[in-house]
Amino acid sequence: MDIRTQIGDVIFDNPIMNASGPLCTSKQELFNILFSESAALVTKSCTLEKRDGNDKPRYWDNDKLSINSMGLPNNGYQYYVDVLKHMSYFSRTKPYIISIAGMNCSDNIEIINCVNSTIHLEKVKFEVGIEINLSCPNIINKGQLAYDFSAMDFYLSKLFTECLYDNIKIIGIKLPPYFELHHFQIVANIIKKYPINFITTINSIGNGLVIDIDKEAPVIAPKEGIGGIGGSVVKQTALSNVYNFSKQFMNTDIKIIGCGGVEKGSDVFEYILAGAAAVQVGTQFYREGCNCFRRIRQEFINLIKKKNYTNISEFYCKLYLNDVFDE
Ligand code: DHB
Repeated sequence: MDIRTQIGDVIFDNPIMNASGPLCTSKQELFNILFSESAALVTKSCTLEKRDGNDKPRYWDNDKLSINSMGLPNNGYQYYVDVLKHMSYFSRTKPYIISIAGMNCSDNIEIINCVNSTIHLEKVKFEVGIEINLSCPNIINKGQLAYDFSAMDFYLSKLFTECLYDNIKIIGIKLPPYFELHHFQIVANIIKKYPINFITTINSIGNGLVIDIDKEAPVIAPKEGIGGIGGSVVKQTALSNVYNFSKQFMNTDIKIIGCGGVEKGSDVFEYILAGAAAVQVGTQFYREGCNCFRRIRQEFINLIKKKNYTNISEFYCKLYLNDVFDE
């Protein structure tokens, strides 16, 4: 069974990797992902300087959903570059995707330029990717850039003009969910103007509220209890975002990483049918730890074997063609 998948020139062993966010902030956590079955290693979104994040409690989940308002706690981008250098001493390798969430465009340019020159100077043997996070919902007094289309266009044009990224294998952007069908074309047309290899869709559904009825209070502390929603309740929104973007990117090389409520092998199958080349696991990774990658991969293999598929391209993006309601 061949379950490899490709984004740009990077080949992934399998289509299942961690999502930026849970369990990918410290060196120990990142090494755990390196030695797990995750197809790649995605870091916590990082900023120029270390951040402690928002007040606690800032994460809560049950079996259907999660809510978080972490506030970008991370060790500063240099830490994630240092982990990459350290990992190069080990024989194990997999794509290393640094999620970046600088407070402004100049911060992200500085981060990308540093990553790019480190790969060259340190002869880093990992294939390095960048996921530019344009959709963090939890920074107090800051909206999600990807909901302001002209600002996003301006931002990307500045970034791709001022960055050196020749040593970076793939660059993608992490998007929030869209809910209006005409938005997919507007956003896709902006993305097509730039050398973007992939989009990750979706980030958590921003600014939700979960209430504890015993305490008669929100379950998390920051922002009056308002935070990003993940878990299986967001899966249908995420699948639709994958599907709608995949139609927009039909005749391009832009690939889609689906994210939102991936918990089992059949979820991966649905995402690939809808047009995802790979998926990321967030809430379920937090619940289950690194074991989730092996389990989900095995469930996925069992399912596609049962369906007599031998590789992903046989069902990738095929939902569009399978209109069972046609006469
Ligand atoms: C955080 C949450 C996000 O959804 C994101 O994309 C980046 C950071 C956070 O609160 O840390």
